[in-house]
Amino acid sequence: MFFVLLLVMVASLVGLTSQRPGVFDEITMLEAANSSLLSYPTDFTQNIVPKAIHSHNDCARSVVSDLRFVSSFNGTHTIDWRDVPLLTALSLGVASVEADVWLMGETLYIGHELAALTPARTFDSLYVQPLVTIIEGQNPQSQFTANQTGINGVFDMSSATPLQLLVDMKTDGPSTLPFVISALQPLRERGYLTTCSSNGTCTLGPLVVVGTGNTPLDGILALSPRDVFFDAPLTALNSTFDITVSPIASTDYEPAVGWSGIGTINQTQLTAIQTFVADAHALGIRARFWDTPGWPIHARNAVWQTLIDNGADWLNADDLEAAAAMF
Ligand SMILES: *[C@@H]1O[C@H](CO)[C@@H](O)[C@H](O)[C@H]1NC(C)=O
Ligand SMILES: *[C@@H]1O[C@H](CO)[C@@H](O)[C@H](O)[C@H]1NC(C)=O
Ligand SMILES: *[C@@H]1O[C@H](CO)[C@@H](O)[C@H](O)[C@H]1NC(C)=O
Ligand SMILES: *[C@@H]1O[C@H](CO)[C@@H](O)[C@H](O)[C@H]1NC(C)=O
Ligand SMILES: *[C@@H]1O[C@H](CO)[C@@H](O)[C@H](O)[C@H]1NC(C)=O
Ligand SMILES: *[C@@H]1O[C@H](CO)[C@@H](O)[C@H](O)[C@H]1NC(C)=O
Repeated sequence: MFFVLLLVMVASLVGLTSQRPGVFDEITMLEAANSSLLSYPTDFTQNIVPKAIHSHNDCARSVVSDLRFVSSFNGTHTIDWRDVPLLTALSLGVASVEADVWLMGETLYIGHELAALTPARTFDSLYVQPLVTIIEGQNPQSQFTANQTGINGVFDMSSATPLQLLVDMKTDGPSTLPFVISALQPLRERGYLTTCSSNGTCTLGPLVVVGTGNTPLDGILALSPRDVFFDAPLTALNSTFDITVSPIASTDYEPAVGWSGIGTINQTQLTAIQTFVADAHALGIRARFWDTPGWPIHARNAVWQTLIDNGADWLNADDLEAAAAMF
C-alpha cells in the first residue's frame, strides 16, 4: 500500500517536472470523463457542481484524448468522445461553453482559427450530437419518469441548470446564422432549446443557445419563436435588449474596466464594473467580462474575485480548473 502510494507520488513528481503540466488535473479529468460512460445513463455528471464559468476556448487541449473508448450509445450517432472539448468543460462543471463556428460551403466547422479546422470537427459532431446523446442519457424513458414534466439538463446535481452554448460566428453573420439555426434542429425537435415566443413567454430548456461574434442582431430579433439569443453589448445596453433577446451581455474587460489586477483597483474602475453589472441586471441580463488578465496568477485571481464580488455572473476562463477553484 505504502509502496503504491510512493510510486504514485514519484510518478506524479516526474510528471510535474516534465513538460506535461497539470498531470494531476489531467488524471482527475480522465476519471471524471470515464465516469460519463458508466452504464447508468444519468451518471453523466455525477458529483459535478455546475459553476458560473464560461469556457471561451473550444480548442482547449483535449484532456480526454487518451481515452480508448468510443461511445457505446446506440442509435444514429456514435460519437468518438476522445476529442470533444465540451466534455472537458462539463467534467469541471462549467455551465457555459463556446463554439467558434466557420461556415465553409454548407458545413459549420469548429476552431479558434482557420488553421485549426479539420473535416471531422464540425458543429454537429462536437456539439450538437454529443448534446443530444448526453441529454437523452439524462432523461431515460421509464415507468418512473412517465409523469415527469420538464427535461433534465446536463448536470445531475442540478438538473434544472441549463447549459449555455455560445455560438461565436466567425464567418459572415447573415450567411452563417441560417446554418446555425438548422444545425440545431436535432436539439430543437427534442425540446432541448430554451425558447421564447413572440408574446414574451419563455420556456426554459436544458440548453440556452446564444449567438456572439458576427451574429446579426436583426436576424436574432426576427426569430419567432426565438431559440437562438444574442450576446448583448454590456457597455451599450438599451431598450432593445431584454431577457427574451439576450440572457447574457458581454464586454471586453480591458477597455471597459482596465484594472490589471495588480495593486488596488481605483474608484473609476470599480464603478465601471458596478455600473455595467447593474445595467445588465436591471434588464434581467447576466453580465460577462471577457479577456480578463491571465497573468500573473494572483492578478488573474484578483480580477476574477473582484468581478464575482461585484456581481458579474460569468467568469470567462481558459484555465477551467483554476476558474472552478474560485467557487
Ligand atoms: C472506466 O469505466 C469502465 C466502465 O465503463 C471501467 O470498467 C473502468 O475500470 C474505468 N476506468 C477507470 C480508469 O476508472
Ligand atoms: C443497441 O440496440 C440494439 C437493438 O435495439 C440492442 O439489442 C442492444 O442491446 C443495444 N445496445 C446497447 C449498448 O444499448
Ligand atoms: C403517472 O400518472 C398516472 C395517472 O395519474 C398514475 O396512474 C401513475 O401512477 C403515475 N406514475 C408515476 C410513476 O408516478
Ligand atoms: C404565448 O404564446 C405561447 C406559444 O405560442 C402560448 O403557449 C402561451 O399561452 C402564450 N401566453 C400568453 C400569456 O399569451
Ligand atoms: C440598441 O443597440 C443596438 C445595438 O447596438 C442598436 O442596433 C439599436 O438601434 C439600439 N436601439 C435603441 C433603441 O437605441
Ligand atoms: C483609475 O485608473 C485609470 C487608469 O490608470 C485612470 O484613467 C483613472 O483616472 C483612475 N481613476 C482614479 C479615480 O484614480
